[in-house]
Amino acid sequence: MFLGLDLGTSGLKALLVDDAENIIAESVAPLQVSRPHDGWVEQDPRDWFTACTDAIAGLGVDLAAVQGIGLSGHMHGATLLDSAGTPLRPCMLWNDTRAAAQAAAMDADPLWRAVTGNIVFPGFTAPKVEWVRENEPDIFARIDKVLLPKDALRFWLTGDAVSEMSDAAGTSWLDTGARDWSDALLERSGLTRAQMPSLVEGSQVSGHLSGSIAAQLGLPAGIPVAGGGGDNAASAIGMGVVKPGQAFVSLGTSGVLFAATPGYAAAPESALHSFCHALPDLWHQMGVILSATDSLNWLAGVLNEDARTLTSDLGALQAPGRTIFMPYLGGERTPHNDANIRGGFLHLAHNTDRAAMTRAVLEGVTHALRDSFDAMRHTGTHIDSLIAVGGGSKSDYWLSAIATSLNMPIQLPAAGDFGGALGAARLGRMAATGAGAEIAVPPPISRVIEPVPALIDPFSEAHARYSDTYSAVKHLR
Ligand code: XUL
Repeated sequence: MFLGLDLGTSGLKALLVDDAENIIAESVAPLQVSRPHDGWVEQDPRDWFTACTDAIAGLGVDLAAVQGIGLSGHMHGATLLDSAGTPLRPCMLWNDTRAAAQAAAMDADPLWRAVTGNIVFPGFTAPKVEWVRENEPDIFARIDKVLLPKDALRFWLTGDAVSEMSDAAGTSWLDTGARDWSDALLERSGLTRAQMPSLVEGSQVSGHLSGSIAAQLGLPAGIPVAGGGGDNAASAIGMGVVKPGQAFVSLGTSGVLFAATPGYAAAPESALHSFCHALPDLWHQMGVILSATDSLNWLAGVLNEDARTLTSDLGALQAPGRTIFMPYLGGERTPHNDANIRGGFLHLAHNTDRAAMTRAVLEGVTHALRDSFDAMRHTGTHIDSLIAVGGGSKSDYWLSAIATSLNMPIQLPAAGDFGGALGAARLGRMAATGAGAEIAVPPPISRVIEPVPALIDPFSEAHARYSDTYSAVKHLR
């Protein structure tokens, strides 16, 4: 048996699979975020450890036969530990944009893009640590280790400070082509390699489960913990997205279009992310939008309704209406790299009802993903097959809109939504057994959502109007 742990923004999922990858049990422990100021998004790392304990207890089965563990987690978070291994402050998450000024200043220095292959986005780890250096110097002075969220979970599980390439690529300190920390970039941040975790590949052993935690969780002591992956790379391993042409679209708190690339394909000017994959000698590209299901959940909250109810009675896909929703509730990454933009509805009319607003929200996120799709095409990245993951993929209306907007069929896995947890379990199996990329196969597909031919042009026209909207409002602060 293998255990996948996926530390998501809204919950930690534990997934137990047998040697033939049948799902034995799954369990989720919810997590909250705190937003103490506009643009700030934090979690207390101790909540992750509690959630991990709860999720594993929730599996409700004997875990004595577990042979390996894999980790997946939300990326880019800055978890700062002192020399006793205690968190110095709440973790600043991937969608925390407080460090916009620091990120812009760093990005103006060409070395960052040259070495990392990416824009220094405000949500990445290095600018957030720079914010701490400027605003909380006492905390900065006490930093012994900077860990990504799932790596903080690993530290708790094994006692080892280790990261792996896919998540490390989202810090702005990794030489992405060379798969190693850049001493020159760490030095610019006032840090050294000694403050960073050591690096392994996602499929390698990163450490072993400590005796005390094993006893607490009911797992065998000493079993290997794989490097794992950032949640997107881990999802890709679970969905078999490991070869050029293969891609997935993720409708989670964030929205992601992820494609495996033939090699390291840096294109920072596109605002796409070019990162290492969770397997050796493999890289990927992705476009990331900050509020996907977060946008729908926001509307549901305002309407005092459940998101599932809002989307359940929309019927067959319609041409986009005049109302436009900009999903920039917390700023945007691809394609705008704009931490200050905020969301909005445009063209509300007397007859704009709940359903019209819901459709506008789903369309707005769809247009945002189309931006990433167009950016990828522009860099020469080719997508032959697209698979859907994430909670939002339960809405056929949404998937139908995306398939139509991208003019590409979307496949739905039969086993349900396992996101990063299945990939993490696979990486756990690779580390424990020596298996490799051959087990990262696409899952059985239950359904394919086809584009609606008559609506392809209306969606393209609506996307053009949506793009004009950003240009029109971006200077209105
Ligand atoms: C990727 C990103 C998000 C998080 C949360 O760059 O920021 O997708 O990993 O899922």
